[in-house]
Amino acid sequence: MNRRNVHYIGHYNDRSRYPLVDNKLNTKIVAREAGLAIPELIHVVKTQHEIETLEKIIAPLTEFVAKPAQGSGGKGILVVRGREEDQFIKSNGSPISTAEIKRHLTNTISGLHSLGGRTDIAFLEELVRVDESFKAFSHEGVPDIRLIIFKGFPIMGMLRLTTRVSDGKANLHQGAIGVGLGIASGKPVRAVQHDRVVTAHPDTGADLDELRIPDWPELLHLAASTFEVTELGYLGCDIVIDKDKGPLILELNARPGLSIQLANDAGLIPRLEAIEALDSRRMGVAERVAYSQANF
Ligand SMILES: Nc1ncnc2c1ncn2[C@@H]1O[C@H](COP(=O)(O)OP(=O)(O)O)[C@@H](O)[C@H]1O
Ligand SMILES: [Mg+2]
Repeated sequence: MNRRNVHYIGHYNDRSRYPLVDNKLNTKIVAREAGLAIPELIHVVKTQHEIETLEKIIAPLTEFVAKPAQGSGGKGILVVRGREEDQFIKSNGSPISTAEIKRHLTNTISGLHSLGGRTDIAFLEELVRVDESFKAFSHEGVPDIRLIIFKGFPIMGMLRLTTRVSDGKANLHQGAIGVGLGIASGKPVRAVQHDRVVTAHPDTGADLDELRIPDWPELLHLAASTFEVTELGYLGCDIVIDKDKGPLILELNARPGLSIQLANDAGLIPRLEAIEALDSRRMGVAERVAYSQANF
């Protein structure tokens, strides 16, 4: 199964397009140019000199998220959700000073949080706020929705819920819950945490079967549109839902993981083969989404 998925990635993804998705800042810029909704960029930090002058940028802010352009797995993501006098407040409620934020960004640009430890760029973006419908299902953070987009078709989906152990980040390796989602309606299939089936959120006790995703059709359209933008045939598209702005593209991944199969109790191969059997060259976003909703 693993090898066959690698075959799909190698065959359908042109390596020259990877820099577009391996760098979150590039993804944001290209998605925004294409008119796709994203959390707005606030500021980019490339050098130590720019960190020295950061105070002026964050002084008027009460909330923001700082992240490495080439980070992954939730590493180096600093979520600031408020401030009290001269301290900022992190997503877990603990305070952080401006000096500590500057140190965090120094570490980020030196590559501490980045793939292979390469020097990196840090950026600040808007804080996404949890939609009402997810409040009972998340702990101090924003859930995200992973969709596998194959040749522009959403073929499998998974909601990732933040937990106390995942520290406000919706990353499975950090202990977030993965909830498989039917493509037709976005309803839950089953949920796993650390590769084991769970039925309730460990922190809130909410029954995971009761989960519903708002704006599901709009969300599928947004995700399917990333095919035209990236020209990558096999893509993991991560979307967050802001309570006011609705679905926003958070990041794209050219080598998405396979745990989505576990959360859906289903394999990707039959769905990949179904799409390969279609002549989809002339199918637009709406037609592809309609096919996926009817079949997956
Ligand atoms: N702008 C934001 N507002 C609120 N939470 C965020 C924001 N960006 C990221 N997060 C949280 O951090 C997690 C990881 O962020 P992401 O950009 O996907 O980086 P990574 O590549 O490390 O997974 C997200 O799933 C979400 O829970
Ligand atoms: Mg992510």
